[in-house]
Amino acid sequence: MDKLVIEGGRPLRGTIPISGSKNTALMLMAGAVLADGVTVLENIPHLRDITTFSHVLRIAGASVRFDPETHVMRIDATRIDFPEAPYELVKQMRASFYMLGALLGRCGQARVSLPGGCAWGPRPVNLHLEGLRAFGAEIELDQGYVVARAPGGRLRGGRFRLEPPSVGATVNLLLGAVTARGSSRIENAALEPDVVVFGRALQQMGARIEGLGTRTIEVEGVDALQPVTFRNCPDRIELGTFMIAAAIAGSPGDTIYLTGAEPSHLGEAFLEAFRQTGAAFTFDGDTVAVTVPERLQAVSIETAPYPGFPTDLQAQWTVLLSQAEGAGFVRDTVYPDRFKHVPELMRMGLQARVEGNTVFLEGPQRLQGAHVMSTDLRGSVSLVLAGLVAEGETHVLRVYHLDRGYENLEGKLSAAGIAIRRESYDEFATPTPESAEEN
Ligand code: UD1
Repeated sequence: MDKLVIEGGRPLRGTIPISGSKNTALMLMAGAVLADGVTVLENIPHLRDITTFSHVLRIAGASVRFDPETHVMRIDATRIDFPEAPYELVKQMRASFYMLGALLGRCGQARVSLPGGCAWGPRPVNLHLEGLRAFGAEIELDQGYVVARAPGGRLRGGRFRLEPPSVGATVNLLLGAVTARGSSRIENAALEPDVVVFGRALQQMGARIEGLGTRTIEVEGVDALQPVTFRNCPDRIELGTFMIAAAIAGSPGDTIYLTGAEPSHLGEAFLEAFRQTGAAFTFDGDTVAVTVPERLQAVSIETAPYPGFPTDLQAQWTVLLSQAEGAGFVRDTVYPDRFKHVPELMRMGLQARVEGNTVFLEGPQRLQGAHVMSTDLRGSVSLVLAGLVAEGETHVLRVYHLDRGYENLEGKLSAAGIAIRRESYDEFATPTPESAEEN
């Protein structure tokens, strides 16, 4: 297995490019299933989740070619003849569940493994199922699989209200609704930019959708969608992560540039909280310039659906708070159990208290390098951030979590002045007592 080894204390400087959005790319790949022909997706990041979803598409019959140099993906969905997403792949990545809406929309039937829980707690899909039922799908559970069928081969459309406004359910309902026989309405839909960009791609393919980016999305079903060439948007969570990295690990007064970005996708809550820490930032086209302050001020945050503070940035914010002056908290109202990284940060010397859905801490604190690991993607990157400012070496184990969602993380950080390297290690090696070696 691989780990990242970071020597703390080097300043982050220069320019870091932002990759294409992982989460939007997965939606766009699912959307390609709806079009009979070759869809070309640009700005697709080279990540493990993207590879996993390529396999999911191949199982259904699509041919997928990806060039990691140009970041262009070609999906030929002319032949979708096996409407199934197996457990082996869905358990690796929950977004594979988008195949439920995509296959129902394309083939009028689907057999998709139910995703289980996730590392930090339960993640239900009840809204996906209830919503598709409201749009006319007949759904049964069979040995861990969702078996869905559209009577007469096409969903009829309908009305469904999401509570809470789930990103994934909005996507699955859009996938089902755009080729339905009739019209559909999604109430309390997700406003996340990922969903809006995905909806625009569907519109370009010929879908009739109104209200993207508002709480009510109306869809008029069409007979078929056409394949298109579409450019994916930049990754907003990667941008937020590097903004936090710049604020905590840059030299005071220095400016760090993040290029190829779309800052409006971060939402006002994150930008406002970041501004209040004292870190200055400006936008110029697709470049975000972060100027590092003498001191960071603690700013408490509470996650919420977009345009609220993203849950995918709360673990990183905890590390920022550890380097800021004053007391603060991080509260996650979207995933109340998402704090598996905190005990690992404590192994690096973090002093913090988790109570319910909130972690409280007071900074600034000195962190020390240690061997740490996390059970999820954003938790893992928070350990890397802590490693940037810790004294000594930090070994972040189980890098495969990071490889799921951060393209070339160590390459980008080392080009920006950080001493970071990838090493392989034996996860199950048992330390040998010295006495045993002597014998
Ligand atoms: C997506 C993102 C993930 C991000 C999350 C919230 C992808 C691949 N993943 O996940 O990175 O953390 O949005 O911004 O894009 N819920 C239900 N029933 C459901 C579905 C969801 O109760 O059927 C609840 C969840 O428990 C959670 C909330 O809705 O509390 C939001 O979840 P949701 O927006 O669905 O997250 P995902 O789409 O899974």
